[in-house]
Amino acid sequence: MSILYSKYALGPLTLQNHLAMAPMTRNRATDNIPNVLMAEYYAQRATAGLIITEGTSPSPNGLGYPRIPGISSPAQVEGWRRIADAVHAGGAKMFVQLMHCGRIAHPLNLPAGARMLAPSAVAAAGEMYTDAEGLKPHPVPQAMTAAEIRSTIAEYAQAAKNAVTAGLDGIELHSANGYLLEQFIRPNTNQRTDSYGGPIENRARFVLEVAEAVMDAIGKDKVGIRLSPFGVFNDMPLYDTMEADYTYLAQQLNARGLVYIHLVDHSPMGAPPVPDAIKATFRKLFKRTLILSGGYDAERAESDLAAGRCDLIAVGRPFLANPDLVDRWRTSAAVNAPDMSTFYTPGPKGYTDYPALKK
Ligand SMILES: Cc1cc2nc3c(=O)[nH]c(=O)nc-3n(C[C@H](O)[C@H](O)[C@H](O)COP(=O)(O)O)c2cc1C
Repeated sequence: MSILYSKYALGPLTLQNHLAMAPMTRNRATDNIPNVLMAEYYAQRATAGLIITEGTSPSPNGLGYPRIPGISSPAQVEGWRRIADAVHAGGAKMFVQLMHCGRIAHPLNLPAGARMLAPSAVAAAGEMYTDAEGLKPHPVPQAMTAAEIRSTIAEYAQAAKNAVTAGLDGIELHSANGYLLEQFIRPNTNQRTDSYGGPIENRARFVLEVAEAVMDAIGKDKVGIRLSPFGVFNDMPLYDTMEADYTYLAQQLNARGLVYIHLVDHSPMGAPPVPDAIKATFRKLFKRTLILSGGYDAERAESDLAAGRCDLIAVGRPFLANPDLVDRWRTSAAVNAPDMSTFYTPGPKGYTDYPALKK
């Protein structure tokens, strides 16, 4: 009996199977507003158990990349409502990933009046793509004041409420891959000397306060979080106390009782390996749902579920390239290969035109 294709209870929600579509930024949201093309893309993939949306900013300040959606303005909330309706009609549940880019941004990408905020004024190595002028060096962000920390937490809480207003089933805090929440956790990007910097109890404070604020706003069953222990994306180097820091986070998040933790593993994309030991630590310390991701095919998904390593499997690139991935995996059919050249380009090409199997 397959576990993968059987139902799963995520808190009070019933998922139609154990497969989640991993969050994937696709840069089709012209003017940062979710649109009809996006509704078509997500609806095509609604045979997943859970769809986690592309990174979506809770604040104008968090819109670091071109054409990524937000969920703070009325037009954005209305756009998400259309998408949630289309996805629910297909049977999937949907969590919006709240991604505040922090220092991974460029003023040319930000809307008028928005600012690049981060824990400390430390620029990321490398370059950021802008529609206006192509690749530009990462600028130095502004270190957040105490008042900006408070207002940013309030923006997350409001975004969570907006998600529920739009009919989405919950939110995933993006605390991975070098964006704002991880910038607070990691010592290279957090050089603060106040109660948000220094030992891990302080570096974890912002993410835990954000988690508490969104849970107060919409309830703990509607809040998950994504973490990338041992992740190095966006200039986040490995450091000595990484394992102890993430063990502390696992304990603290468990104590708060949010519905899931979702771990990133980008080793199939060429990143350094994520030790099995840290995944096992999360499994042991976190009592609610654990989602693993990174390089899964059907066989490995089934085997990790059967071994009890996690409760759900999130899949990125195979879902991007196969709108009917669940059927293809279930019937061992051939799969389409993803086309990297259209991952982030505007328009339907490489987005809504991947073929489904003929029925
Ligand atoms: C085009 C693309 C965009 C992505 N955007 C995001 C994102 O917005 N948020 C996030 O947490 N991860 C993002 N990821 C990472 C995926 O969620 C996933 O962890 C990664 O693709 C590895 O899983 P896979 O081997 O199943 O593709 C992205 C990956 C791809 C390929």
